[in-house]
Amino acid sequence: MGTTQQWKQQAAERATDFVQSGMVVGLGAGSTAIFAIRRLAELIHSGALRDVLGVPCSLKVEAAARALSFPLTTLDDQPVIDVTIDGADEVSPQLDLIKGGGGALLREKMVAQATRREIIVVDEGKLSDILGTLWPVPIEVLEFGWKAQARFLQSLGGDPVLRRREDGSAVITDQGNVILDTNFGPIADPHALADLLDRRAGIVEHGLFLGMATDLIVAGEAGVRHLQRPGN
Ligand code: A5P
Repeated sequence: MGTTQQWKQQAAERATDFVQSGMVVGLGAGSTAIFAIRRLAELIHSGALRDVLGVPCSLKVEAAARALSFPLTTLDDQPVIDVTIDGADEVSPQLDLIKGGGGALLREKMVAQATRREIIVVDEGKLSDILGTLWPVPIEVLEFGWKAQARFLQSLGGDPVLRRREDGSAVITDQGNVILDTNFGPIADPHALADLLDRRAGIVEHGLFLGMATDLIVAGEAGVRHLQRPGN
């Protein structure tokens, strides 16, 4: 038994077992990864972990980590990250992901690509047989000409919606761009879709994280499970 919040905490805290003294750690965004950041801060301050440096995946995460006096560095100073602990919005049986519900997809993907071991932490409600079933694909685009990108996404069969704040203004990412949350329905071939999105000028990044997660820690009614992508 447990609540989604408890499962998020259990999954995130289990992931901290993979962090050792001396490591550079990617600090993911969202309501699940924050539990790992808090736990790591405790371990650092108690002396159980030494010489750990964090690379935050968003300005919001950076502020939260600073408030916890978490020792931080940057991707420029540490271009190779040992372990990243990050959340996800949807996870396929192949450990492919949709991410970006919190709007931090670009930095999250840059950090993931610089990471040796990318550990994704979720509650079991995020598991899905086919990506796109539970969540639209967040697509970060330049504000310049964003409606042209929306038309392009429609031509691919998507239903793009500009992400807005409560006051109706567009959400602006840490890089000054906007986000089109694009429902494609269940995505039969995520790699083909990712290729099309990757080739389009004006699309800065998309929330399909394919082949990047090495580990998945999922918590739910049956307890906490650790899955690894084959070959890792
Ligand atoms: C942030 O941009 C996202 O990729 C998050 O990691 C993702 O939305 C998961 O967030 P929660 O842990 O809050 O569900």
